[in-house]
Amino acid sequence: MGYASEISVANVAAKVNAVGQGHVLKFLPELSPGQQQAYLEQLAGLDWDLINKLVQSVVKHPEKFTISGDVKPAPFYENKPADAAKKQKLCDAFGRGEQLLREGKIAAFVVAGGQGTRLGWDGPKGTFPSTPIKKKPLFQCFAEYLLALGNRYGKPIAFYIMTSPQNDGPTREFWKKHQYFGMDPKNVMFFPQDQMPAIAFDGRVLLERKDSLALSPNGHGGSLLALWKSGAIADMKKRGITQISYFQVDNPIVRCIDPLFIGLHDMDGAQMSSKMLPKAYSKEKLGNFCIIDGKLTVIEYSDLPDELAEQRLPDGELRFRAGSIALHALKVEFVEQLNSKGFALPFHRAEKKIQCVDFETGQPLKIEKPNAVKLETFVFDALPLTGKSIIYETDRQDEFGPIKAMEGNDSVVTSEATTTTRNAAWLEAAGVKVPRKADGTPDCVIEIASSFALYPQDVVDKRVAEIKAGAHVYLE
Ligand code: UTP
Repeated sequence: MGYASEISVANVAAKVNAVGQGHVLKFLPELSPGQQQAYLEQLAGLDWDLINKLVQSVVKHPEKFTISGDVKPAPFYENKPADAAKKQKLCDAFGRGEQLLREGKIAAFVVAGGQGTRLGWDGPKGTFPSTPIKKKPLFQCFAEYLLALGNRYGKPIAFYIMTSPQNDGPTREFWKKHQYFGMDPKNVMFFPQDQMPAIAFDGRVLLERKDSLALSPNGHGGSLLALWKSGAIADMKKRGITQISYFQVDNPIVRCIDPLFIGLHDMDGAQMSSKMLPKAYSKEKLGNFCIIDGKLTVIEYSDLPDELAEQRLPDGELRFRAGSIALHALKVEFVEQLNSKGFALPFHRAEKKIQCVDFETGQPLKIEKPNAVKLETFVFDALPLTGKSIIYETDRQDEFGPIKAMEGNDSVVTSEATTTTRNAAWLEAAGVKVPRKADGTPDCVIEIASSFALYPQDVVDKRVAEIKAGAHVYLE
């Protein structure tokens, strides 16, 4: 007998009633046998004790964030050090990263389970047309990058894609429809993360319909468990993979695997490492890398007290300037150890407008203001659990083009502009004349495929000696 058919109404009722959530069964008698079965499975799959704990600690009585203990800025490796020994270390790190790629030891891992509500794109975010000229979907950018990198180092790269239960099917279909953008399907793995119910401010879990709770993915922190539960870690070990390059789905110019960063992380024996950007201004919306009582911790921009955020060094730089851009390197062994020992990341509270039905009538409600708490864990909360971690600085222009919205900050518009700015710099360094406007920004649009160049130094083939003002130039 399968697991699903063993789920009885009595068992589920005992669980939900014990934690004061009996209302979730109100409409059960109205459902068809098939709907009942599916709904009971959904309910039985949730951890009601955890939900109950979070109702108390995060929904009803949230604690205000306070920094207890001694807080300092986290140290980092500069990307353009003046010191010769430091320069040599970065050179060696790049060599180490290249060696790991030649040995097939690095996997790429994208977290693509988010809902992308700010962008409002109808489909998984990875399917969004992101590049300035060819409008390549984000997933295609990653596939091209990984193919080019694999070809360069003579070993195909395994790509793990975390989805959510909601977008798993459409994501897989999209890759299939596009023949995996030339990647070998054996090297592309999809797996969904877990979900959590949204909780009304009075503590009751919301129903999206009479036969379903209002569920949403449990945050990118859910990736550390999903990697394990899905068998991805076991698969990596079978393939001899020792390092994971973690990135977000929203950035078309991300270096899916940066040999220098992973090489540095590997050389230093780190378990989980991060890239950082120097913040543009004190309250920029980036998490802050800090050391609290000796432990590396990311403090969210909204939680960093003004008196710390505004502190400056004698040279005028922000004292707390290392901002997190959600690029990490993870040792496979670290993810394995976390899971085999058991670990729990804290849940964060986000007040959102969540579509739901009336608890009494089951009729859909019109939601005009935030009505519930969404519960999410964040991957950077695993940093304090590491024994060793490094941070490496990167340039904003080089690889930070996130698409969170259609316009404004971190939007399609800024991402396309960053792409051209980066590409213009690469071409100019190779001697190409690039037209610039009075404000210094490029007066053209440039898109470079990974097959043409992965690193700036790859632009030796001066196929274009000069770009005309207003031109659209695509290089592949
Ligand atoms: P965001 O913080 O941008 O969230 O995720 P989002 O859900 O995609 O977008 P909004 O806030 O609704 O507009 C950062 C990265 O983490 C992934 C996203 O897919 C993105 O790559 N993520 C986020 C997950 O994989 N799972 C989650 O539960 C949340």
